[in-house]
Amino acid sequence: MKTKVANAELNSYVCNASGIKDVAYEELKAIAESNSAAIVMKSCTPEPRSGNEEPRYMRLPFGAIQSMGLPNLGYKEYIRIAAELKKYRKPIIASVAGLSPDDFPKIVRAFQNSDVNLIEVNLSCPNLEGKPQIAYDFNAADELLGSISNLGYKPIGIKLPPYYDLAHFKKIADIIKSHNISFITCINSVGNTLAIDPENETPLIKPKSGLGGLSGGYIKNIALANVKIFRELLGNRISIFGVGGINSGTDAFEFLLAGADAVQIGTVFEKEGIHCFRRINEEFESIMKRKGYGSVLEARGNLKYL
Ligand code: SIN
Repeated sequence: MKTKVANAELNSYVCNASGIKDVAYEELKAIAESNSAAIVMKSCTPEPRSGNEEPRYMRLPFGAIQSMGLPNLGYKEYIRIAAELKKYRKPIIASVAGLSPDDFPKIVRAFQNSDVNLIEVNLSCPNLEGKPQIAYDFNAADELLGSISNLGYKPIGIKLPPYYDLAHFKKIADIIKSHNISFITCINSVGNTLAIDPENETPLIKPKSGLGGLSGGYIKNIALANVKIFRELLGNRISIFGVGGINSGTDAFEFLLAGADAVQIGTVFEKEGIHCFRRINEEFESIMKRKGYGSVLEARGNLKYL
């Protein structure tokens, strides 16, 4: 069940998503030693950040709500960590964030001269107070992609928020196609949602007056639609990581039918731990076998219509 995202070969279809247990070296080493097909690092900024105030992550019955606020070690530390993790011979994926437009080219340029294999640029963090999600501002996104997409030879991808309107899908897809973008990751959490504790009469998390990104099973169908629509609009030249509510091999297979080249696991990794990669992968392989598919590519985008 090997697959490929941009020019990176993945030994299986399932890897971790940026943002869960991937901040510190020990966490990334655990991912490197697990069945995750790649090592996706936490979105990083120019300087280290401790992130938003606690409580900032709460499990919900079918997922989670969080407003982490990009706690990370700063990009220089992830360049050092990538050099250490290279020995695991697994694709290493940097995740780049920024607090201002200039941060993005600065960090992307640095990762272009590092041991990472792919560079995922996060245009969709909903948790920075006063900083809109760049991917919802089409002019800003266009300008930013212009500033990062030709700084070196390592493939650049972008992590997108969910879109809901077909005109918006078309608009952002046209922008993506007009730059040198090799893959997309969709979707990030659904931003600015609210979970309430009725006993305390408060939100469950503290930052942004309780507003946070929703993830897990609640968003699977939104993510599936985003993968499908982007596959149709972007064609086969641009790879797609599907992410959002993948809890089983069946979920992973649904993302394959919708058009994903590989899937990333976040919320379930937080809840179940490192063994989720092996479990989901084994379940995925047995579905593929039962259905007679010999490779990921054979089934990719095979959704049939009623
Ligand atoms: C966070 O650190 O706030 C989560 C990252 C993201 O949503 O992109």
